[in-house]
Amino acid sequence: MRSIKTLAAGAAIIALAAGAAKAEESVEVLHWWTAGGEAAALNVLKQNLQKEGVSWKDMPVAGGSGVQAMTALRARVTSGDPPTAVQMLGFDIRDWAEMGVVGNLNDVAQKQGWDKVIPAALQNFAKYDGNWIAAPVNIHSTNWLWINKAALDKAGGKAPTNFDELVAMLDNFKSQGIIPLAHGGQPWQDGTLWEAVVLSVGGADFYKKAILDLDTAALSGDTMRKVFDDMSKLKTYFDPNFSGRDWNLTSALVIEGKAGAQEMGDWAKGEFLRANKKPGTDFVCIRFPGTQGNVLFNADQFVMFDVGGDKRDAQLKMAAAVEDPSFQIAFNTVKGSVPARTDVPGDQFDDCGKKGIQDVAEAAAKGTLMGSLAHGYAQPSAIKEAIFDVVTQHLNGQISTDEALKRLPEAVAAAK
Ligand code: GAL
Repeated sequence: MRSIKTLAAGAAIIALAAGAAKAEESVEVLHWWTAGGEAAALNVLKQNLQKEGVSWKDMPVAGGSGVQAMTALRARVTSGDPPTAVQMLGFDIRDWAEMGVVGNLNDVAQKQGWDKVIPAALQNFAKYDGNWIAAPVNIHSTNWLWINKAALDKAGGKAPTNFDELVAMLDNFKSQGIIPLAHGGQPWQDGTLWEAVVLSVGGADFYKKAILDLDTAALSGDTMRKVFDDMSKLKTYFDPNFSGRDWNLTSALVIEGKAGAQEMGDWAKGEFLRANKKPGTDFVCIRFPGTQGNVLFNADQFVMFDVGGDKRDAQLKMAAAVEDPSFQIAFNTVKGSVPARTDVPGDQFDDCGKKGIQDVAEAAAKGTLMGSLAHGYAQPSAIKEAIFDVVTQHLNGQISTDEALKRLPEAVAAAK
């Protein structure tokens, strides 16, 4: 008779062998989720996949909005070794699809009924030539203002609803001796603030005309002049160290009460939550003053590169895991975003999340769910970067408002 010890050893060997077989199935994931809240959210996905026997090879490339990650991706594809899955936004997805290097996700999309539950605004980018080529993880939006609650209370407690009230609040923060407006001076962060100001000054129709249609008159007219003037005004509330600062370090200033507010997409909420801060108690989330009812969206999506048959099963498992409704809740409540599926209940989301879900639904219904320029959903990269150049140079005082108004349509035309 075999001893219990031998049986146990045998079982251990079988378990090991099973583990080894499972470990063969893996995904290498290129992403830029390296800040605290982002990494915590990504962990949910890693763990879910590991439970399914898919191991995770991490390829993080730090840099908000993925600028550096996209450079790393180009290098990998050029050397003939693309990662299996890549975090990507809007027009970049389309660019890679056009090159014919991405995999087809139709099977899993059909099985899970993506056509019925993923909003049209996202399908527009997740599908190419009628085929699903990306799995949308979430819907973020950029026109938010994150306010330190204690500072707001000292300023009278009423959140601003328009630009004048915003300025009054920032003046009060100044008198409290804190940084009134925390900003990180990197082109994509300048662009994120600028697009909120464009929407605030001109409303949804103007955003569509200037940013989505690239109308020359809108890019150089009086409304755009007010946008640049407002940017100059907002800059007077930055601290002297804003230049080059990462967005999450900028959020930390608000979290710690060193600054009063930050304009940033709702991934900032992930940082507040990581620091154990509660919405409504420690911080307040509002739409950037003047943009209520309108949403500038961006959505993180995973694109699966065509890397050969043996990796395909793991890729499909990852795509299916991403669209699983309970994953959508577990991930997005940590990340600060709202679900990419319209059928996911919002009751487990905090007040900012609930507001986000409602805002997206309302904006979609009235036609004001519009792509964020700064995060790749309004224009291809070349145009986005041409606009960033003008916005950043103006914000840094290198060009005047007159010069910016002249340069903006020229830069866009040259990049087309
Ligand atoms: C956005 C992305 C978010 C967040 C942010 C900062 O472009 O959609 O998920 O990561 O960049 O890195």
